[in-house]
Amino acid sequence: MNTTTKLLAPLAAAALLTGCGASEYSPSITTTPAEMFADGCQSCHGEKGTGKFGLLLRIAGSDEPIEEILEKIEKGGTVMPSFPGINTAQRLALATYIKTL
Ligand code: HEC
Repeated sequence: MNTTTKLLAPLAAAALLTGCGASEYSPSITTTPAEMFADGCQSCHGEKGTGKFGLLLRIAGSDEPIEEILEKIEKGGTVMPSFPGINTAQRLALATYIKTL
């Protein structure tokens, strides 16, 4: 490994970990659903869920059943990280909030 590779490897690993796997985001009990969305989801899904990368990641106005949104937050997706730090009650509040976007 040359020096550049040695320096970049941990960064690449960190980038991959934040892109998929489990998110370390952990809201407190006073965090509102809107704040959870802004802190945990907006970086990919855009402000108000309109999609950060064009319409691809749009979740505003999604007709997805609430059960699937809950599962998505809990288990993540192909690329989306899971959110083990968001507890059951918060997950329900967040999923309900998403349905209002
Ligand atoms: C690192 C980027 C990233 C973050 C952060 C992220 N998502 Fe996602 N999300 C994705 C990607 C990519 C997809 C679609 C592909 C997949 O399943 O990975 C997706 C899909 C979804 C879907 C399904 C949309 C549909 O119509 O199929 C929901 C619902 C969702 N995300 C909710 C959330 C919530 C709620 C949060 C915050 C707790 C969140 N996402 C955070 C990247 C992200």
